[in-house]
Formats: sequence, structure tokens, C-alpha cells
Amino acid sequence: MRPTRRSVILGIPAFYLACSGETPKESGDSTETAPTPEREPEPAPWEPGGTEDSVAFAWGVQSGDAETDRVILSLRSVDTALTLVIAEAQGDGWVEVKRQPIERTGETYQELITGLNPDTAYRYVYFTADGQRRSKVGRFRTPPKAGPLRKLVIGATSCLGGNEPWSNLSFAAEAQLDVMLMLGDIVYADGAQTLEDYRSYYRHALGVQGLLDLTASTSMIATWDDHEVGNNWTRESLAEGQYEAALQAFRESVPQGQGANGQIWRRLLFGDMVEFFVLDCRSERTDTLYISVEQMEWLKSSLKASTARFKLILNSVPINDYTDMFGHAYAEDRWQGYPEQRREILDFVADNAVGGVLWVAGDVHHGMICHPDAPGDGSGESQWEVAAGPSGSTLNVAAELYTDTTGHYPVLFAKWNYTKLTLDPGTGSCLVSFIGDDGLVIEEMELFL
Ligand SMILES: [Fe+2]
Repeated sequence: MRPTRRSVILGIPAFYLACSGETPKESGDSTETAPTPEREPEPAPWEPGGTEDSVAFAWGVQSGDAETDRVILSLRSVDTALTLVIAEAQGDGWVEVKRQPIERTGETYQELITGLNPDTAYRYVYFTADGQRRSKVGRFRTPPKAGPLRKLVIGATSCLGGNEPWSNLSFAAEAQLDVMLMLGDIVYADGAQTLEDYRSYYRHALGVQGLLDLTASTSMIATWDDHEVGNNWTRESLAEGQYEAALQAFRESVPQGQGANGQIWRRLLFGDMVEFFVLDCRSERTDTLYISVEQMEWLKSSLKASTARFKLILNSVPINDYTDMFGHAYAEDRWQGYPEQRREILDFVADNAVGGVLWVAGDVHHGMICHPDAPGDGSGESQWEVAAGPSGSTLNVAAELYTDTTGHYPVLFAKWNYTKLTLDPGTGSCLVSFIGDDGLVIEEMELFL
């Protein structure tokens, strides 16, 4: 069993941790000390020929749920007869590995592409029938298989409800991320009911420059929050067919795999290094349950069985206990309002010494690094949670006004951002960098997981 970092974390005074970029020195741990290398540089961008047509391909290109040998590609276009071309990074250049006409009946196209090589960069593009016009060129990477270890650079954000053109996402695109975590509220489709209603929100969002740049730059792993369906919706608040319409529009616009029974919650493995646990914290709620018993059991057993160095839990709304900042206002909208399940999973992680766990959340419209429980309040005091974004939604100024005196919130601020997580499996560290609309670091802190 990997030693936990409880003693290391709890032994550091809060002022030492706070946003300094200073790295706490570790002692007494001989299993991990050597930093792992950076990823090898990728070749210069591929030049596939043709001219980009921003009318025929107004919504860019998307990819999602990349695995070691596969990825899901997604396109929305007004043009019908299109050819997909994929190139693979080999040495200093790009080699075409696939060229095929794409088949679709409607406005959107998605296809699972298989036969890819692990830890390899790919570029892809769609050409019109005349071969002269094309989409943006997309990029994604397949994750590594087991070893050798290297650093992973992962982006995360949430809440794209204003502040267009989401400049922070254009800076995310420049980072050549291994993968981008989309933690919900990509659209604010409040009031939508039909499939066409929902699609209209994605047509708008996918055409905004920041998201155009981002989705062409890396693959995504996505979950949803409430606004992909409606503000704080419940099953009872929806019209007949509304849930299915919202889900269809989400999936056809944001490429993603499905769990074993077609659900949103699922897991993805990046070799020995990272396992992603994608939660669905919205569609299974009842009066007493935040997530279904089935999802909870899956999460617990999967976390316990995972041998990945880092375990990132994609959690649309923080599991943090906000009692000190917000009291119980809107507690029913987050884990806090479901204290039994909240305690169940935090205690499970602690009691089983599940190492390398990082909760990654969105929804709250402020940036944050916190312990899910304030010091002395429970097992979450030795875990970490990061709130990523918002990239565009109304800023929650309460985060600026609140003064933390306990070390519960080493980082807390309200500025538009995307969040970069640089994971080093050699040292067990995660450098959390919040990047603003000017491309500069707003806050930064290194966690040991
Ligand atoms: Fe939001």
C-alpha cells in the first residue's frame, strides 16, 4: 500500500501553502523522489493543404475520450460530402494514416476511430468534396500505456455562461494538453425543451473562438452539470422527452463514451499514471441520494481497485463543505446537502488509504484549492479538491470577500480562468495553475497526492 501524505499535508502551516508556488519538501518517502521527464515535443503543426472554410465548418472540430488505441471524433457541418484525413506524428513530421469519406444523415457526425498507437499525437481534418476547402485542423493525443513515466499536462474548466470569446480557452489551446476535462455548464440551456432548442445552444457555444480553439487542440473528457438540461432541474420539473433531448444534444456536440449501461458515469485509464472517474451528479438524484447506489458502489470499488498513481474524480459540483463560507444556502444543490453519501465516499477514500486522489469540480464560478472538510471536521481534511474555471460565467465574488483563517482554502479567488494540472508521477505532485484571460498565472500551488 502506498503511504498516504496525510502527515505531510497536515504538518504544513496554511501560510506556507498559500499560493506561493513554493514546494513543500518531503521526507521519509523513498518510493518517489525523482521527477519524471516532460513529454517529448510534437512536430510543428501539420499543413494538410486546402483553405479553411469557416462557414462550412463554423463549429470547428471535436474529439473525446481518447484511449490508448482509440478516440471519438465529432463534427457539426452544413456541408454533406466530406472526407476525413488523419495524420500521425512520426519523428519530426506527420504521416497520413487514414483517409475516408464520412457518413452521416444529419448535421452532426461522430465516429469511433480505432487502431491508433499509444502516447502518440494525431492531427485530423475534414475536406469538402472538391478537396479545396477544409475544416480547422484538429489535434489529440492518445494516452500512454504502462511506463515509461512522464509528466502529464491536463486542462480543466467549467461554466461557459458569458465573457465571450473565452480567451482563457484560447490559451489552453496553446498548451498542447494531454486532455481537457469539461466539468459541466458548457451551455446554459435553461428554457430549452426540444432537441432543436438544445442544439441551438451548442451551435452557439461551439462557434465561439475560445471553444473553437480549445476543441481543435486536444481531446476532451466531459461530464455535465445542471445547465445542460435546465437550472437545478429534477426529473419532475422536465417535460416528456426533455431529458432525452438534452442528453442527445449533449452527446452529439461533446464527444464522449458511455458507461457499461449507457450512463454518463464511466472511467478512463491513462496507463499507470492516471485514472479518470467521471461522475454524473445530476441525473440520478432523488430526495435522499445525490448519486445512485449503483454509481456509489462503482466509484468505491473502482477507486479501491485502481493501480493508477493519480485518481482524478470529475465531480461537477464540489464535494467541499461550504458551511464556513455559504452556510447551508443552496446546500441541496451540492454534496453538502446529502451528508450521508458525502461522508460515505470521503471516509471510504480515507479508510482505505486510497492514494493519489484529486477531486476536480466546477459549478461554483470561482477558482479554489481546498480540503473538502475544514481542519478537524472530518476525513476530507486530508484530501484535496480543485474547482476549475469558470471560463465565462458570472463570477462568484463571495470567494473574494471570504477570509479563510483555518487553512481550509489555500487558494480562493474569483477570476475567469482555465485550470492546468501538471502531474508528475515520479514525485507524486500536481502543480495546479489557474490561467486567466491574459494567459498569465492567477494562482499556482503544488499539491502532493
Ligand atoms: Fe455554472
